[in-house]
Amino acid sequence: MLTATDRIAAVTDTLDLDAIAAAAELLAHAQHAVALAGAGMSKESGIPTFRGEGGLWTRLGEPPLNQYETFAADPRRWWERRLEEAQQPNEFAGALEAAEPNPGHVALAELEAMGVLGHLITQNIDDLHRRAGQRAITEIHGNRHWMRCTACGTRWPRDEITIDPQSLPPHCLESACGGIVKNDTVMFGEPIPFGALLTCERETDQADCFLTIGTSAVVYPAAQYPVDAVRRGVPLIEVNPEETPLSEIASVIVRAPSGEALPRIVAAVRARRAAAGRAP
Ligand code: APR
Repeated sequence: MLTATDRIAAVTDTLDLDAIAAAAELLAHAQHAVALAGAGMSKESGIPTFRGEGGLWTRLGEPPLNQYETFAADPRRWWERRLEEAQQPNEFAGALEAAEPNPGHVALAELEAMGVLGHLITQNIDDLHRRAGQRAITEIHGNRHWMRCTACGTRWPRDEITIDPQSLPPHCLESACGGIVKNDTVMFGEPIPFGALLTCERETDQADCFLTIGTSAVVYPAAQYPVDAVRRGVPLIEVNPEETPLSEIASVIVRAPSGEALPRIVAAVRARRAAAGRAP
């Protein structure tokens, strides 16, 4: 099987090679790089972004910001509506179902295997990082294949929870709990599981290089982590075809699609480490 870096030759030379080299130079010396990924990572897997050019919400309008409040007010009605919606064709759900990891996902997993990327914080729920081999990962907005109890936080693979339309909402499988279960993906207004927040803060505090990839950096707390890292004097690398609020604090900006830029960056890191006699 070709790795992402083997496919380098196939990428047309439209990339800013100086930026690629500068990013690789920073990462080649990193002991614990941390990355924040957003929807742009999965654009080349066929999943639309939310904002920016051609984004789902750019076209269809943003969803209500009180989604979780609506759920909490009437979980049964919320579940009834979800089951109805699941019967309707849906662009996003269809794209999620068909998506495969792209060379950008594979490159990030390689960067972890090389011992350069210490942790990935992803806002994406599509599971593509895990399928590409990423292990040190926090899915800060959840994962589409999991369900979660809103009371005790226990999570299960989606198919382990029986959704009985005659007995909604589903309840926690932990007998002593009895909390209400929803899909693991975080809605606007929903508290992010405390353990996920602790891990993101701890990893950001340990970072000696920070990557922000394919995110508009407008949703918190995710967008705060690169800022906190820069405040500690950590260099920030931005990989995004468009400008974001983080661009002005980035040490290196790679204005390119992540599926093209990341394999190039990883190949250059591997070359630098080999030249320095370090394990590739
Ligand atoms: N490669 C890299 N970045 C890309 C690409 C690409 N091929 N194509 C687009 N982008 C960039 C866009 O320029 C934009 O900055 O990806 C970003 C996508 O931004 P958003 O759609 O806002 O996605 P994201 O930043 O992940 O949103 C954060 O908002 O609504 C919530 O839960 C949702 O997790 C999401 C969060």
